[in-house]
Amino acid sequence: MPIHLPPLSRRDFLVRSLLAGAGLATSRALFAADRLKPIDPHSFALLSDTHISADPKGALRNVVMADNLRAVTAEVNLLAQRPAHALVNGDCALLRGEPGDYVTFVDGVKPLREAGMPLHLTLGNHDDREHFWSGITEAGGAKRPMKDRHVSMVATPRANWFLLDSLDKVNFTPGLLGENQLAWLTDSLEKNADKPAIIVGHHNPAEADHKGGLTDSDALFAVLAPRRQVKAFIFGHTHDWRVMKHDSGIHLINLPPVAYVFNASRPNGWVHAEVLEHGLRLKLSALDKAHAEHGQVKELEWRA
Ligand SMILES: [Fe+2]
Repeated sequence: MPIHLPPLSRRDFLVRSLLAGAGLATSRALFAADRLKPIDPHSFALLSDTHISADPKGALRNVVMADNLRAVTAEVNLLAQRPAHALVNGDCALLRGEPGDYVTFVDGVKPLREAGMPLHLTLGNHDDREHFWSGITEAGGAKRPMKDRHVSMVATPRANWFLLDSLDKVNFTPGLLGENQLAWLTDSLEKNADKPAIIVGHHNPAEADHKGGLTDSDALFAVLAPRRQVKAFIFGHTHDWRVMKHDSGIHLINLPPVAYVFNASRPNGWVHAEVLEHGLRLKLSALDKAHAEHGQVKELEWRA
């Protein structure tokens, strides 16, 4: 089920550094510095909508997407404490999920894996499930246990993270979970009710002013709302950083894109999330350090 890229081994790192022309001593020092950092077991680096094209110089809406990803991974690796996990929440590829997009994407996320972070991935409407899977397995990702959808649970000390697959059709805006996936989610929530649950998927819940979200979001929230351990739903897709609340008290967290925004006034970047005893702390790191929301912290309290 999972789509996870494991951290890269020391050997992988050294071979790559040597091929890139870096000196052996420098490579070892860099690797050791990242690996010796203290790890925050409760924290995640949350990225979404990287929209990487096969061409590393590919640009859209005045953004060179691979450059943005490079800037974000560098920022994550500058944290004093390394997050225990990193996530890219869909739309990893440019528009149609071409095989070459995933080659460049896998290269772009290497700094996180070299720093020792397992990287979790979900699929967006601009990904292609088959091409994605081929690209990931070639890069050492987990074997495929399920044919049509990619779902998984990541257990951390204070929360279980449920990763959903809302890709319906490639390059078709709305998303769909479907009955089988909702049945898997229901069953998995029932079996793992001991800790707060954080649900992650690419598409936003249906909203009057954001068309093109999850077609079956009513069915999703019919599963989530009555299960009190469900505390938050994290999504991307709208390319807009927002934090809201569902009527049920479930927090709705809209990650900013790593790539381009649709509204020039909104920030792009990434979010550092730390699971607290009774909630979640989010810190926005905008790529534009002059943006008014750069550094914004939201501390969310879990519903009872
Ligand atoms: Fe996107």
